[in-house]
Amino acid sequence: MSKPKVIVTRKWPAEVEAELKALYDVQLNESDIPLTADELKLALQTADALLPTVTDALTADVLDVENKRVKIIGNLGVGYNNIDIKAAQSQGIVVTNTPHVLTDCTADIAMLLLLMSARRASEGERLILQQKWLGWKPTQLVGQKVTGKTLGLIGFGRIAQAMARKAHHGFGMKIIFFSPSQPDQAIVDNLQAERCASIEDLLSEAHFVSLHCPGGEATKHLINEDRLKLMLPSAHLINTARGDVVDSKALIKALKEGWIAGAGLDVYEGEPNLNPEFLSLNNVSLLPHLGSATQETRLAMGNRVLANIAAFFADEEPEDRIV
Ligand code: DGY
Repeated sequence: MSKPKVIVTRKWPAEVEAELKALYDVQLNESDIPLTADELKLALQTADALLPTVTDALTADVLDVENKRVKIIGNLGVGYNNIDIKAAQSQGIVVTNTPHVLTDCTADIAMLLLLMSARRASEGERLILQQKWLGWKPTQLVGQKVTGKTLGLIGFGRIAQAMARKAHHGFGMKIIFFSPSQPDQAIVDNLQAERCASIEDLLSEAHFVSLHCPGGEATKHLINEDRLKLMLPSAHLINTARGDVVDSKALIKALKEGWIAGAGLDVYEGEPNLNPEFLSLNNVSLLPHLGSATQETRLAMGNRVLANIAAFFADEEPEDRIV
């Protein structure tokens, strides 16, 4: 029997690519240049399994291409707002993601951004890189203390809970959260956390607000001008979720006009083309979507995809099946 045809849209960890080569008739992307919509359509017509990631927009139009061969889309990433899930489902295509394995690393990046923003780390590094640092002084780059402050989490899934553990047990922070569903009481008790009745309540109380909701239409511009105005002037906004959860024009206004003290961002609307106004602001720390970027996690994500497609081709249920 011939091996299933698998197309990988970006460069993956070498160990995972080697395993894919051993098991499948695989087409890798040595150039690592993202595929165009037409190339994605061709891949759907050529492969039994397409292995995309966050940079591949599998829209309804792309998924609607005629003469499809693809049966499974094994997304490398826990977030899958790059895929029109309804369209995939209506086309009978199975979709999987890679949950669990990136929880701690993404929470670490959220914590890193929180600390960078609170302690004005990016501003400090720029001072040194621009050779403008003239030495220690009592009034230089005075930031805000983190220990003991209140962290507000919007969304309370695995990554938010991991951040809450680090913040509460490591930095003595008070945890408040907004979640549409009631989490396990044992988790809430362990963190001595409080559930807020509304996003508005959370925003007006938290010293640090960290976003952990999925991307997509339902959460687009969840953080807008009105909600930014509810935050404390000393507060910081951290986004490691998806760029379009925050209205970036409103955030730039908030940072310029001092409605909030700072922001730490790992994801952007329209990334990698972030709004250039962010570059001229001192009170924002910017990372290039590094949430899951550790050797251990990227390997584990790749292995998760391998396990999902292996199960599918063995006529078993993939563990991380979304539809
Ligand atoms: C994810 O897994 O959703 C990360 O943002 C990287 O893709």
